[in-house]
Amino acid sequence: MIVYFSGTGNTYHAARTVAAVTGDELYRIGFDDVPTSDSVIGIFSPVYFYGLPADVIECLKGIKASGAEYVYLFLTCGGSDGMAAKSASKYLGRLDAVYDAMMPDNYIKAYDVPSQDRIAKLLCSADFEIAGAAEKIKSLARGDFRCHAGGEMLYLALRPLYKPLGRQTSCFETTDSCIGCGECVANCPSHAILMRCGKPVWIKQYCSGCLGCINRCPERAIQCGVSTKKRGRYIHPDYKE
Ligand SMILES: Cc1cc2nc3c(=O)[nH]c(=O)nc-3n(C[C@H](O)[C@H](O)[C@H](O)COP(=O)(O)O)c2cc1C
Repeated sequence: MIVYFSGTGNTYHAARTVAAVTGDELYRIGFDDVPTSDSVIGIFSPVYFYGLPADVIECLKGIKASGAEYVYLFLTCGGSDGMAAKSASKYLGRLDAVYDAMMPDNYIKAYDVPSQDRIAKLLCSADFEIAGAAEKIKSLARGDFRCHAGGEMLYLALRPLYKPLGRQTSCFETTDSCIGCGECVANCPSHAILMRCGKPVWIKQYCSGCLGCINRCPERAIQCGVSTKKRGRYIHPDYKE
């Protein structure tokens, strides 16, 4: 099985590309009932604050990896992986292989999205990395195959900020452009948003912080403070289909 978490589609793209090669079934964290075990277990996750998203950690706690033939992790990141693989190994009790791909950074709370040109180049090189990983995964290769390892010190410095900065929902607000389409509610893996009187309301204090709501809003009607007003939005082409 392939279990994945994705806010803006990068990790979904990696998971579906590998699944097309291996024939494994896809399970989306937050939406599907993830089986507790399988003979081949692939976890696909973005890197958040140099570690794993909160919803991924919760899911890993429920997976029994000890009896599996092959357990691997695939990370997508905007720069480097930090301690995400170590964290997954801790929760799963083992990891037979680790892969990664660098993809466009979707953390628009802090940075603007890359230029269209840069996005095209990143997606092209990521596809190369994903295709190489897929062949290795198919042959159940064992080892650390990451190209973007590093950032362990950044984990120590920045991970403590994940909850107060990355996961707080209080910064989100909708503008008058909101048409009440409910896309943000339907796509939230943390189920942190509800429609009230035709408008989205963040009902949980903390979510995983995937930024799917703000990046995927078709009307650009969600903001997180003043900084995101001037910034672009990012969605992988697979999520635009
Ligand atoms: C809350 C948050 C924190 C992030 N932290 C990191 C990080 O520490 N290191 C990094 O390389 N990329 C970081 N990113 C970028 C994502 O890992 C990257 O864009 C990923 O491919 C997004 O996957 P998705 O499109 O499947 O959601 C962060 C993104 C978010 C939303």
